[in-house]
Parts: sequence; C-alpha cells; structure tokens
Amino acid sequence: MLTQREKMNVVIIEGLDRIARVVAERIASVIRSKATEGAQAVLGLATGSTPLGVYRELIRMHREEGLDFSNVVTFNLDEYFPMDPGSMHSYHRYMWENLFDHVNIRRENVHIPRGDIPKHEVDEHCRAFEEAIVQAGGLDFQLLGIGRTGHIGFNEPGSGPGSRTRLIFLDTLTRRDAAGDFFGEDNVPVEAITMGVGTILEAREIVLMATGEHKAKIVQRAVEGPVDPDVPATYLQGQPNVTVYLDPPAAAELTRIKTPWLVGEVEWTREREVEAVAWLSEQVGKSILRLGERDYRDQHLSSLVARYGSAPRLNGEVFNALIAKIRGKSKLPREKRIVLFSPHPDDDVICTGATLHKLQGNDNQIVIAYQTSGNIGVVDDELRRYSELMRRVGRAFQIRDSALDELPEKIERFLADKAPDQVDIPEVQELKRAIREAEAVAALETLRLQPSQARFLNLPFYRTGEAKKNPIGERDVEIVVELLEEMRPEIVFVAGDQADPHGTHRKCKEAIDRALARYSGPSPEVWLYRGAWEEWPVDEASVFVPMSEEELRLKILAVFKHESQRDKVPYASPGDRDIWQRVEERNRGTAATLERLGLPAYFAMEAFVVERDGQRLENPAVPTSSLGAEAHERSTKAARPAKSKT
Ligand code: F6R
Repeated sequence: MLTQREKMNVVIIEGLDRIARVVAERIASVIRSKATEGAQAVLGLATGSTPLGVYRELIRMHREEGLDFSNVVTFNLDEYFPMDPGSMHSYHRYMWENLFDHVNIRRENVHIPRGDIPKHEVDEHCRAFEEAIVQAGGLDFQLLGIGRTGHIGFNEPGSGPGSRTRLIFLDTLTRRDAAGDFFGEDNVPVEAITMGVGTILEAREIVLMATGEHKAKIVQRAVEGPVDPDVPATYLQGQPNVTVYLDPPAAAELTRIKTPWLVGEVEWTREREVEAVAWLSEQVGKSILRLGERDYRDQHLSSLVARYGSAPRLNGEVFNALIAKIRGKSKLPREKRIVLFSPHPDDDVICTGATLHKLQGNDNQIVIAYQTSGNIGVVDDELRRYSELMRRVGRAFQIRDSALDELPEKIERFLADKAPDQVDIPEVQELKRAIREAEAVAALETLRLQPSQARFLNLPFYRTGEAKKNPIGERDVEIVVELLEEMRPEIVFVAGDQADPHGTHRKCKEAIDRALARYSGPSPEVWLYRGAWEEWPVDEASVFVPMSEEELRLKILAVFKHESQRDKVPYASPGDRDIWQRVEERNRGTAATLERLGLPAYFAMEAFVVERDGQRLENPAVPTSSLGAEAHERSTKAARPAKSKT
C-alpha cells in the first residue's frame, strides 16, 4: 500500500556505509556467480560522489576476502569532453584512483569513454564503445547515480529512451553542481560523452543509488512522476531489474515518507500529527485554527481527527505544540556552557547568527569551533588583493622583513601561471586560511562576541589542498574530543545538513558524533542547524528563534564580513543570489510559513532540531543556569565586549 505511488523497487537504508555494503555485495555476487560459470562479469560503472563507498568496500572485499577481478570487464558511463585522462577531473583518473589501482583487474578489460580524442573521432569512438559492450556479451550489472537534472550517466533532459553512446551538452544545473570540484562553473567542460539511455536499459540488472537531501526532490520525481524525457531517470520505471537504494534524506520526498496518510494507514505520533496538520493547512490555504472536519476528510486525514473527536480539538493541540516551539531570548538557554561547531567559517553566522547573538546576551559561555579553514573557498582574485595589501603595508611602515617582501612576490608569481585545477602552494593555502579566519572573527565581533571565543580546529581531513577531502581520521576525532573535555558543554550546535557538494558538512558531523560517543562527560543537548543551503521545514523543527528586523540586519552585517564568500564563489550560492539574500529569504520564509499556519507574525526566524543521544527532544526544556558563580563571572567577562557598541 505505502509504496503504491512508486514505479520502481525502492529500498531505503539508513547510513551511507550500509548502502555501500549492500550494493558492493550485489556487485560481488555478480562477479562470483559469473566466475563459477567460467564467464566474464560485465559491469557498468559510475563516478561522482555517490559510489565512492561502494568502491571502497569492493577494494576491502578484494583484500580481505579475495574477491577476484580477473574475470571482470568494465564500461564506465561517461567522461567529460574534452578531458585529459591525467587531469584531477577526469573520470579515468577517478576510476583508477578509487578502484582499479587497488584490485586485480586487467587493464585491457577497462573501458571508459575518452575525452582526449579529436572531436571528429568522437562518433566513431562512441560506436566502437557500443560495439565493445555487445562483444563482451552485454552489461550484467549497471551502477547509476542520479543528477539533480534527473540525468543518468550524462543523459541530460531531452535524452530519448533509445539513445546510444554519444557526445552531449551538459545541463546548466549539472555544471553548477560540478563547479565546486572545478573551482568555478566556467571551468566545467560544456560537453561530455555518455552511454545512452538505451544502452543502460539493456543491462540485465540496474542499481541506482542516491544519498543526501539534495537528491530528495529529483528522486521523488524519478520514482513517482510520469515518464518524461525531461527527467531521463524516469525511463527506469516499470523495469523489474531495477532497484533504487536511498538513504532516508534522499527518500524524504517520497509519498510514503512525506505524506504517508495519502497512501495508507499511519501510526500517529505527535511529530506526525504536526506534520500532517501543517501540511493540510498549506494544502488547503487555511490557518490551522480554521481547518474543518471536511478539510481533513477530503485529504485522507479522517483517522487523525477521529483520535481527537473533533477538528477544533486537534487544531488546538497542534497550534499549541507549534507555538511552544517559538523561543524568544527569555526562553533560550542562559548561563550554559555551549560549543557551536561550524564546518566552515561562515556556517555559524549564516545559520545561527541571530540565535548566537541572543545566547551571548544571555550570559552563556560560548566557544565557536570552526572545524575546517574553508581555504578552498577563497578565489585567487581575493588573494591578490591581500597580497597587494601586504606589499603596501610593508612599504608604508618600512618593514624590512624579507618574508613580507618576498611573500607577495612568490604568491603573485604562482597565481600568474596557475592552472584552474592546480593545487595551491602551502603559502597560498595558509594565506587563504588566514583570510577566512580573520573574516570569521570580524563576523563574531559584529554579533558582539569576542575574538577569544573563536577556536580554529583546522581538522586534518580537510587539509588536502583539493576539493576532495580525506575520510575522517583518528586525529580529527581526537581534536574534537579534546575540545569537549575542555569545555564540558551542556549544549552543542552542529550542522545537521547532509547535502553539501563535497560532503564536508557530513564529515564534520561524523567527527562530532564519533567524539561525542567517546567523550567522558554527560551527553549534551545537540541543536542541529540545517547548513547553508536550506532551512528545516517548520514541521520538522523543534525550536524557532524569532528575530526583529534589526536583528536580521545585524546578522546580515555579520554575513557580509565573510567577504571572500560573497557572490564570487558560484558554488557557495546556488542560483545567482548572494549569500545574504539567501539568508534573508530563508529566515523570513520560515516566519512567513508560521504566519500562514496562523501563528504569530514575526519578522524572521532561525530553526533548529534538538536531540540528545540521537533522540529528538520535542520540547527541549527551557534550561536554567548551570554555571557556578565563579564560572558565571568568567563567562560574562569573556563573553561581553569590553565596551558595548550598542
Ligand atoms: C557519473 C554519472 C552521473 C552521476 C550523477 C550523480 O558517472 O554518470 O550521472 O552519477 O551526476 O553524481 P553524484 O554522485 O556526484 O551526486
């Protein structure tokens, strides 16, 4: 019943590692069963961020369980065009680095479309690629990801169901999504060679994987929407040999998850009730207190009203539950020890700026822990400006320091010849880090915090100099544990979004989760903020912190201090809007939604989901002071600027 709107087999599995293990196990069983028949296993493989865990698991199986790749033949879905196979962006390099170099596959059995051939040879190359698949006996297994355009392979909107391997123009959204890896959208190739939809559909087994909330909308469209050339993944519908593996964030928009009452009986919890009533209110365009029995009946929610006996009683319950979540300054924590973790310098002010300002005013003892330097996000132009400043400062103050003389020279020489994908020299990385740290401090000061409240953890996993980061390691976790042991926080703020393109937020959260599991103190309350891309939906949030127009302005001023991130970093702001515009839209949007539901009309709001030990706290208690008198004195000294600017 619940899956009646899904036109593909969908399996939802919690945790990226677990999905990776299940999919790797499927691939391994194809390889083994082909080997027992004495035949080759022909695999179609994908690149991108999604299958990395699968490849890691296959390597582990090869090393520890003897999974043998000598009978494996592979065909990759795609490659950018033009693209040098040695480039860090090449899917050739990706496949060798992430899989082939670590298993016993035969070089001649690997097939990846080539991006380094002359254009007039592309058609012939594509034809030969198709022919090679046929010669190998067809694809036994095809692994797919899905792009936010709905592409599979690089079959962008408009691709036909019978399309074959060919050169294709990449969609703007696809190029924007790749911009982070390429250090700017302009560096992303406009074309690619991709296996066709027809080629993919002929595979004997197809697995599509999608993870992260940024995929939720397109997954819903692909799985439940009508078959449509505008969403090529819909061609997979109705095929019995297709399985879609999703993590819960990617599955969040499926009807069975989002609005299960439309497809079956629901086990009602308070959280669900709020979700359903808020949804109904938006659906029929009436405030909660005006919803009538008929509205509930027409939208498959009679069973919910029945639990309360009447619509007004239910309306009142949900209205009260929502209103209790609105927490102005007097209902926010006071005199607590708080650690606010920010994956990059700027997530803190973007997502929690107004709350942070209020918490500081409530005499809490707050430390802002910046987990990474975010230096990858500083564009070279920005650095030139600072290098010029250094030169001028040196001259103006007649500083005869050879480092201050030579550094700008060295930086400018490096930048003059730098290729778009070249890793920065250490001096440039350091300076970019310093720029972001200085911005972070300036932003905190705008919110009336002290520079001494900033801690720059500079976690090692991030320090690769490339968009691609290392997995979280022991030292990353240790650094977080040390901070927790030192601060003994009662509340921690954590970026709880799982959507950022490089997974940095995900990794930062993993470091915190692992550190919390090891930390010797009592479990703190965890206030999850959503990350810079989107806000928590109102039916999911456990706390709303309202702000006045002036407070929003202050917050935006703080965001402005992150100058290196403003409008020059295309991948930092989806669409063409600057970060501050997104902040305003997001915070005003939350307040507007609550207003439509019939709750008090605030100017803007930040939203949080609060948990302890991984369990949601529906109504986190209004905390009372726990800092001792001495600690209180320490905190207020550290917390208050010597001279208030207001
Ligand atoms: C990659 C490919 C693409 C990706 C898709 C999702 O070979 O063909 O279709 O699978 O763009 O990419 P990620 O996994 O990076 O979100």
